[in-house]
Amino acid sequence: MIKVEDLKKSFGENEVLKKNINVEIEQQEVVVVIGPSGSGKSTFLRCLNGLEDITDGHVYIEGVDIADKKSDINKIRTEVGMVFQQFNLFPHKTVMENITLSPLKVRKISKEQAQEKGVTVAQSWFGR
Ligand SMILES: Nc1ncnc2c1ncn2[C@@H]1O[C@H](COP(=O)(O)OP(=O)(O)OP(=O)(O)O)[C@@H](O)[C@H]1O
Ligand SMILES: [Mg+2]
Repeated sequence: MIKVEDLKKSFGENEVLKKNINVEIEQQEVVVVIGPSGSGKSTFLRCLNGLEDITDGHVYIEGVDIADKKSDINKIRTEVGMVFQQFNLFPHKTVMENITLSPLKVRKISKEQAQEKGVTVAQSWFGR
């Protein structure tokens, strides 16, 4: 579960997430965050895996406070995926190499397993 408590985020004087954000997202729940460009959607998502330091409040991933210095943020990040707006794919790698890179490096699964999973996921997206 992701639990957000009284989250605020400012960049200097710019208070981007100024109203306390409180939300609980259960496992397998699908949530859409909508709002005008520049309203702070990406900033909010970046706060959920520690890519931004939180100005105030708490974010708990499966009960672990990600801003707590004692928490292992890299371990938490192995469970929090994020697809960036500009995708940030490696142009010198194939599609398969791009999608299997994280499972190989982070989860240390075999190349065969990673490719099998990659094909399964791609088939479920494209229906082939
Ligand atoms: N690293 C940063 N330093 C300073 N200001 C930032 C930084 N990142 C975002 N901002 C500011 O925070 C505000 C919210 O930006 P954010 O990218 O979160 O909006 P968004 O809702 O995702 O917009 P879009 O729909 O265009 O993707 C903007 O005013 C932006 O300029
Ligand atoms: Mg955005």
